[in-house]
This record gives sequence, C-alpha cells and structure tokens, in this order.
Amino acid sequence: GAVELGPYRHYMQKEIFEQPRAIADTLEGVTGIVPELFDGIAQPGRPRPAAWRVFQEIDRVLILGCGTSYYSGCVARYWLEDIAAIPTQVEVASEYRYRASVPDARTLVVVISQSGETADTLAALRHAQSLGMRHTLTICNVATSAMVRECELAYITRAGVEIGVASTKAFTTQLAGLFLLTLALAQARGRLSKAQEDAHLKAMRHLPAALHAVLALEPQIISWAEAFAGKENALFLGRGIHYPIAQEGALKLKEISYIHAEAYPAGELKHGPLALVTSAMPVVTVAPNDALLEKLKSNMQEVRARGGELYVLADAGTQIDNGEGMHVIRMPENYGPLSPLLHVVPLQLLAYHTACARGTDVDKPRNLAKSVTVE
Ligand code: G6P
Repeated sequence: GAVELGPYRHYMQKEIFEQPRAIADTLEGVTGIVPELFDGIAQPGRPRPAAWRVFQEIDRVLILGCGTSYYSGCVARYWLEDIAAIPTQVEVASEYRYRASVPDARTLVVVISQSGETADTLAALRHAQSLGMRHTLTICNVATSAMVRECELAYITRAGVEIGVASTKAFTTQLAGLFLLTLALAQARGRLSKAQEDAHLKAMRHLPAALHAVLALEPQIISWAEAFAGKENALFLGRGIHYPIAQEGALKLKEISYIHAEAYPAGELKHGPLALVTSAMPVVTVAPNDALLEKLKSNMQEVRARGGELYVLADAGTQIDNGEGMHVIRMPENYGPLSPLLHVVPLQLLAYHTACARGTDVDKPRNLAKSVTVE
C-alpha cells in the first residue's frame, strides 16, 4: 500500500521516528539466542541451510558493504571481537572485489545491505564465493532480494520500506541484527553464559524505550542545526565503537545538507585535523560514558584550546557541561555495548534539520540514488 507521510515533513524524518518500532519488530519473536535466527531461506532443490552447522565451521568473519551498511559492519567488528572473540575484518565492497586477497574457507562472509541489490556488494559476495568461501550470510532488509537468494544464511531486518535516500532505520535494524549475530556466534563458541544472554536480551528489550527518550531531544538538536546551517565544514569525533558512529554522522550531514564533514577517531586529532580547527569549524563529539571518556575529554580540551566550538552528545554521568564554546546535549543513561544504536539518532536528526534549514531536497539529495544497482 501507499506509504503515507502522516505528520512528518519528509520520509527521512518519519523513518528516523519509526526506529523504536523498527527495533521492536526486529526483536519480535527473539525469545532467546538461537542460531536458527540466521538460517538460510528454503529454495527448490536444496535443504534449508542451518546456521548452527555453519557456525561450527568458521573461525573468522569478513564483513562487506557500502555506504551506511559498511558503517554498521564497522560497529559490529567491535562486538564480534569483544563479545564473541572472533577475528573480524570489515571492508568496503567496491575495494574488496578488485584486490588480490588471501581466501580462507573458514571465514563467514557477511554482506550487509538495505536493498540486497547494491551492485558492488553483490559482486563482492560473488567474488568471495569464487575464491572458495562458501559460508556466506546476509543482513538485509528485503527478503526477496538477490543477496538473500545468493547467500547461504540470511537475517532479514524489519525496518519496513525505507524511502529516504539517506538510510536511517535500516542502519539501526542492521545493528540490532548484527548484535544478535554476535551473541549467536558467542554462544556457538561457548562464550555466552545464560546470565550474559539474559542481560543482553534485557538491554535489547529496553532499546525502543531508550530510542523514544533520544528522539525527545529533537528540539535541542534543532537549535544545533540552526548553527550548523551556516557552516561549510564540520568535524565529527568518536572513539572505539563510536568512531563508526561519528563516520555515519558525517556521512548523513554530507549526503543531505551538502556540508563537508569528516570523521576522525579522536586520538588522531593531533596528527592532522587539529590544524583545521578554528571557530568556523563545529566539532561534533560522541561522548558516551565508557572506558575512553577521560581520553576523549582531553581530545575535547585540545579543540577548545584552539577556539573550536564543541557540540557534544554526552551520556548522563559524564560530567561534561555547557559552557563557553561547549554545547552539550545530555543523552539517557549509558547503554553499554548497545550505545551506538542510541548515539546515532541525534546525528541523524542533526543532518536532517540542518538540511531542512538549508532548504535542500532531503529525501532525494542531488547526485545520489537510494540503491546503486550499476557499478
Ligand atoms: C546508496 C544509498 C545509501 C546506502 C548505500 C548502500 O549509496 O544512498 O543510503 O547506504 O547505497 O545501500 P544498501 O542497499 O546496499 O544498503
């Protein structure tokens, strides 16, 4: 049926606000961590591939994707190495497909795609298969897509139809799927106790409510967007698992507001981008209350000392406060490993409202396509 805008101005805004529902749908029916969540689809002439068997036969992961889907893979690498202790590599699909690489049959190749039809990602999948890597899994939002048909295993996200060219709810549902995959692999490798499984599932169940709380920050983001609308450059900083979130935030801003934005892991600031920092350069910082917080605070000090304006997304309990050149939005409590799903939302809203303030065509940004099915 027709997808209605309802009270929203653009599909992108509607899709951002659908995220609590999309995550809740993605989790529906997940009563525990079972490999069956990742079983392949039934196809004529072959039995339905069983994920539990595949999970016994692999000892590394290679993730491939493009654009926003690539960044969800970058987040997942931290989970897979930390929680499942499985060596993980992430690569942009268009690079992987054209380079000589060392194939390894005990690798699980994970292709991530909203559409399941992106030409570079499909070609990268086929390239991996041609090198003898037969264990493949897709995290995909379209059940009837080529990627789902061609992969051994599949996890279908339940974002629903995504219309805005800049991906939002597809990204957070990919993250939810990748987190479940991490737990399933951890379990298959004997690294997940029942208590840990319960704690992770409980945190996941609370995500929709936490996402609602983050969406309620929209008025504060709008005031940031008014300041960003007049800028031509912006820097995004993050550390650890939030570095890909900074990258995704920069990508969103570029795509729809046409402001040049770059993301850096905050520890690299002193190796180059600090030279760019002036009062004309807003610096967005993703500052969760985690082990890297103290390091991040000293990176922020480096920016302040050069007159840079900081826009900080700080968790409760971080003791980062508003002040001269410091604009702080207080996020809800720290969500541990799931924190990236919450921190990306204000960055989506920032890009959206900055683009609105600049009057760009938010749902159809110039030169970009929703799905790139040719090379
Ligand atoms: C295009 C879209 C992006 C998307 C990327 C990958 O560039 O504009 O929003 O992230 O393709 O698409 P996929 O469907 O493979 O996730």
